[in-house]
Amino acid sequence: MDSRLQKRLQNDTYRSLTKNPSLIDFASNDYLGLARSNRLKENFLQECASKKTCMGSTGSRLLTGNNSYIENLETAIASFHGVESALIFNCGFMANMGLITAVGTKNALIFFDLHIHASIREGIKNCSARAFAFKHNDLEHLERRLQKNSCNGERYICIESVYSTSGDIAPLLEIYQLAEKYEAKLIVDEAHSVGILGHDGRGLVSALGLSQKIFAVVVTFGKALGVFGAGILGDDALKNILINFSKTLIYTTALPLYAFSAIKCSYELLPMLSNERQHLQKLIRIAGFSKGPIQPIFISNPKHAKNLSKNLASKGFDVRELLSPTVQKGCEILRLCLHAHNKESELREILEEIKLYG
Ligand SMILES: Cc1ncc(COP(=O)(O)O)c(C=O)c1O
Repeated sequence: MDSRLQKRLQNDTYRSLTKNPSLIDFASNDYLGLARSNRLKENFLQECASKKTCMGSTGSRLLTGNNSYIENLETAIASFHGVESALIFNCGFMANMGLITAVGTKNALIFFDLHIHASIREGIKNCSARAFAFKHNDLEHLERRLQKNSCNGERYICIESVYSTSGDIAPLLEIYQLAEKYEAKLIVDEAHSVGILGHDGRGLVSALGLSQKIFAVVVTFGKALGVFGAGILGDDALKNILINFSKTLIYTTALPLYAFSAIKCSYELLPMLSNERQHLQKLIRIAGFSKGPIQPIFISNPKHAKNLSKNLASKGFDVRELLSPTVQKGCEILRLCLHAHNKESELREILEEIKLYG
């Protein structure tokens, strides 16, 4: 057996694919229940029936994979988020990789939160810029990093608005102010806040009135929007940089038209989901481990985290553990994800079970 796999088995960090179809969902990113929504499905089928659609896109966006339907959708998404332009990528991982590798030139510097998503880390590994981590959500540490490290090119700060592992919300306004003070450009990954936070689910950047002030915002469609794909929001100049230098956009087949239809239909439903958002906020207050849909329960031991998740599965709940290297060793988490389709009674029951486990 590969020695890396053996090591994982020894450390209790071995991963395998699992299926828990009959369990109550406290694990997925389908925060608003759109992935399972009949309404979204019906709207999508109607949208597809109303036009001729090919099964495949036949090429990259730069070749034969582009058309006015996609461009109109990007205009609508930009307008919804209050920004100049939007560019759709095949998924959030590719959007982050493509963004960081496009802007991370030799003279650039990147400052990133220690808890930043793997896709931004991969972008950093694959770009030419130097990069410095700052402690998670630590404004003083970020400021010291900005004071000490300069360069001939641009400086970028990468954060998430709601962190995908700990569920923490970034001090976005304060980080924006630091970015302004030190003339750095801010990149915000809104994967876990779009659809949930802000007016009609426009995200935290919009809720703080920063939509037109932030260099790049990444929104993903495979989580609260219940479909797939991602967008990078910014100004026209950024869009042109991405179209010219983003390899994950240029060297890949574009999504098929029906995928863009799914994204369109999901965006159209977002303003109609205030009851779902309200219910979700209520559940977030009841759970109380964080202020977002991801509720972290720190277990700090991979074996215990796995056992707790197994124990909860035996009671009918699907909750997954996060192990190293997704989180740091010793910082293992049971990641309780809340959804509009979770009942208050289910949440109270699962919280009791977790308490009993100690
Ligand atoms: C913060 C964050 N950014 C980006 C991604 C990648 O998004 P996608 O699943 O669309 O590739 C994820 C998904 O795990 C995420 O949690």
